[in-house]
Amino acid sequence: MSFPTIRMRRLRKTQALRDMLNQITLNPAHLIYPIFVEEGIKKPVPIASMPGISRLPLSMVANEGNAALAQGIKGVLLFGIPAKKDEEGTAAYAPNGIVQQAIRTLKNTCGDELVVIGDVCLCEYMSHGHCGIIQNGEVQNDATLELLAKTAVSYAEAGIDIVAPSAMMDGQIFAIREALDETEHENTPIMAYSAKYASGFYGPFRDAADSTPKFGNRHSYQMNPSNHKEALHEMELDIVEGADMLMVKPALAYLDIITAAKANFNVPIVAYNVSGEYSMVKAAAQNNWIDEKSIIREILTSIKRAGADLIITYHAKDAKTWLPP
Ligand code: PBG
Repeated sequence: MSFPTIRMRRLRKTQALRDMLNQITLNPAHLIYPIFVEEGIKKPVPIASMPGISRLPLSMVANEGNAALAQGIKGVLLFGIPAKKDEEGTAAYAPNGIVQQAIRTLKNTCGDELVVIGDVCLCEYMSHGHCGIIQNGEVQNDATLELLAKTAVSYAEAGIDIVAPSAMMDGQIFAIREALDETEHENTPIMAYSAKYASGFYGPFRDAADSTPKFGNRHSYQMNPSNHKEALHEMELDIVEGADMLMVKPALAYLDIITAAKANFNVPIVAYNVSGEYSMVKAAAQNNWIDEKSIIREILTSIKRAGADLIITYHAKDAKTWLPP
């Protein structure tokens, strides 16, 4: 049977019918809001390439956590910018490092209402801007694992709810799981940045976090955007190593990978709607080329429809302004 017996428009006739048949609903509880906290500043420093987003001083972090809760957001993802960088990323695992202080502040103010997640990486803390120890001009995998594990443990000691390793070193999930278990943090979950592609969409973030590599690029550890099966292999390994959730990053240019993740694994799937995806929307909106709110809803709906359970997004900050009523 076909037209004229079948008419698809019958079920689109009224708003009530369309609401009743709507298949994806955006819920602020499924959004995670990234926060940049910088050591040693007194006032917020706006990030030019990410309109609406700033690096915050420690003194404003509690406020930002409360602001997220007021939007219905349940989780924040912390990134730190240290006062001093070195060749071992020492500030990443300092007991009183900027992220560790931010974790304590957020847990003191927001308690269990807010899920505090910490990005575990070294690029923001390394003088050379790479995600691991450098020897002979190359990022050393195994030597880096120890530092990532130390960082995760120091976050756990500060009271973190979830650690999110993003360095793309082989074995990082196993190393972190083992270190957490040995220090009585066996109940701290790991959100693994498993399928993290070497992407041009991270550009604005690197301004935000001051983490652009001083030489070379991240192609020897982040994935080639062309590869699909390799993403499934990465995810499979992270599950075996002990990941509690899997992430695909970026989101919009990788919706097929999100769908594959959802189809193949039975853990929560997280998508990172990254800085470049955010900045493109903001730039076009500032020129009045697009309707910002409907575009945000459409993009985040597509990421959910592809299969993401949780979405990390800079748009979470003003969720109430663009979420449907
Ligand atoms: C690494 C890290 C990056 C992002 C999150 N964690 C940058 C990179 O790999 O260069 C990018 C996030 C974004 O673009 O919003 N610490």
